[in-house]
Amino acid sequence: MDKFVSCAKQDRVVTITISRPNALNALSVSVCEQLTETMQAIIADETVHAVIIQGEGENFIAGADISSMATANVLEAEAYARLVGRCLQTVSECPVPVIASIRGYALGGGMELALACDLRLAGQSAKLGFPEINLGIIPGAGGTQRLPRVTGTAKAMELILLGQIIDAQTALSMGLLNAVYLDDILTAKTTELAAKIAAKPLQAVKKVKQAVQAALNLDIRQGLAYEISCLIPLFSTYDQKEGMAAFVEKRKPIFIGK
Ligand code: CAA
Repeated sequence: MDKFVSCAKQDRVVTITISRPNALNALSVSVCEQLTETMQAIIADETVHAVIIQGEGENFIAGADISSMATANVLEAEAYARLVGRCLQTVSECPVPVIASIRGYALGGGMELALACDLRLAGQSAKLGFPEINLGIIPGAGGTQRLPRVTGTAKAMELILLGQIIDAQTALSMGLLNAVYLDDILTAKTTELAAKIAAKPLQAVKKVKQAVQAALNLDIRQGLAYEISCLIPLFSTYDQKEGMAAFVEKRKPIFIGK
């Protein structure tokens, strides 16, 4: 079986690379299956503190695989859309932060994968958008749901309705990206960000992700109660005791992730 998804672990950071450069890394059935399996293995590995997702070569991902949909009947299209959706949901449910590192095209399902990540860094070559409307469809892997949560509905409507492709600076100004760098230093900057997160106390990092994700689905009272429910268990962790002791003793904390 061809391998489209590879995974490298360095220290506590895993970098996933989607490798189908001849199709601009489009999310074929095999890519989705392999990415889901890879994410499941990462989720089960408690030594992982942060994850990076990137595309091989010049591009992130140019979307769902149009050749998987072009001649699909309704049932086949539904099965494929659900497969892509499940794959991206697995990314979103990874308990540690996932960073999308975007060069070149991040379109349709590729942009949806980036939105399923927690942080998005881009190179200046990045070109982002939702061209689905031009294919007679709409985003089907979270674009209509995750994009308005990031940009607000007006910008989301504009991007999805027009199917326009925007550059990295425009995406940055819309809050779609955390930062934009020269392409040459994107990998180094992404690694640096992942390493910074990986050095933080792991249990607190996981709770940040849980609490911030919950903020999108809960009203403010429920959200504040949920925040407290995330905070309190941290007082039973080694790293909380170490972090506060180090502050009091005016030294650097040594976190162990527990
Ligand atoms: N699916 C399958 N193959 C794709 C692809 C995709 N999404 N995007 C690009 N490719 C393939 C092309 O067919 C081409 O293959 P061949 O060399 O075998 O012909 C190869 O990748 C290179 O692409 P181009 O020759 O088109 O490269 P370009 O530089 O001229 O154009 C592009 C780049 C503007 C990104 C153009 O490829 C394009 O418009 N791609 C489609 C983008 C798109 O519509 N994405 C949304 C898909 S639908 C979706 O994602 C639904 C969802 O929400 C789940």
